[in-house]
Amino acid sequence: EKGTYPHFMLKEIDEQPLALRRIIQEYQDEHDHLKLDQNIRETMKVCDRIYIIAAGTSYHAGLVGKQFLEKMAGIPAEVHVASEFSYNMPLLSDNPLFVFISQSGETADSRSVLVKIKEMGHPALTITNVAGSTLSREADYTLHLHAGPEIAVASTKAYTAQIAVLAILAVDTARAKGLELDFDPMRELGITANAMEVLTDQKEAIDELVRDNLGTTRNAFFIGRSTDYFVCLEAALKLKEISYIQAEGFAGGELKHGTIALIEEGTPVIALATQETVNYSIRSNVSEVVARGANDMIFSMKGLEQDTDAFVLPEVHELLTPLVSVVPMQLLAYYAALHRGCDVDKPRNLAKSVTVE
Ligand code: F6R
Repeated sequence: EKGTYPHFMLKEIDEQPLALRRIIQEYQDEHDHLKLDQNIRETMKVCDRIYIIAAGTSYHAGLVGKQFLEKMAGIPAEVHVASEFSYNMPLLSDNPLFVFISQSGETADSRSVLVKIKEMGHPALTITNVAGSTLSREADYTLHLHAGPEIAVASTKAYTAQIAVLAILAVDTARAKGLELDFDPMRELGITANAMEVLTDQKEAIDELVRDNLGTTRNAFFIGRSTDYFVCLEAALKLKEISYIQAEGFAGGELKHGTIALIEEGTPVIALATQETVNYSIRSNVSEVVARGANDMIFSMKGLEQDTDAFVLPEVHELLTPLVSVVPMQLLAYYAALHRGCDVDKPRNLAKSVTVE
């Protein structure tokens, strides 16, 4: 039930800190160790490459997860859009593990890949919010998101839950392999949950940014580098699907190779700057679009901020920044859709689970 909320989407955005805390609880045992099925641990230890298969928002979570698996667990990982996988099947490694990420567990595009790779005899792990869903039943192993039912068509809390569970999986694997890790996942996720809560309390500030900058625009760009780029893809999808503003997420350095031609007087360009390594370069990309008339809004992380930034995000571990930077992006989409009179929870042409290929 929506309770006092006008929309499920807003309720689900607000539930994110809670969902993250539930994940921390569910994946921690009484000795503060990570709690994961021993079979999953063993499978992760022996696989030599991970193939992440997903669609839409879950695909965007996979892009972030790939970095965890490579940087923390030392396993090469690739991320594939489910509907394209069969046409361009990569050469598989000797011991591949397929990881399916799906809120609903019912996405037909992902399922058809699952059926195929099971026929080939490869192991599959599904990360899903729905226990007993098709992708969960048909895979060898399941990790649950514990995000609670997601009703709004636009996915919010499932995305952050997917990223959190992928981080836990990567850390657990690193530990099982005896790798040195300077990262306490439960502590960092706890800090992140608090930061998310700070953000969900700042709705008015985001609403004001939307009123001032996205009121009548036909299009918008989200730019970022490194991890921020992946969040930009998600931010653009969110804005498109519920407000119908044409939006594109772009790698900051790639704009000059063509897309910058679309920048006109007043074009909104939202930039994420949460990573120290790219703080300088993304800001120079912002200057390039501002010089061509763009209306910039920089969302930076505390410690990296400058006076002219539109919004400063509370600081979290650099690997976990997507969990906080996405929250104001979800709210931007929400208020943009709300002010345009769109049906926030049930955008046109879309269904909550996509059971056709
Ligand atoms: C976007 C959205 C979709 C889904 C996609 C995959 O807000 O909800 O892009 O993420 O259809 O769905 P699942 O995760 O259920 O496989």
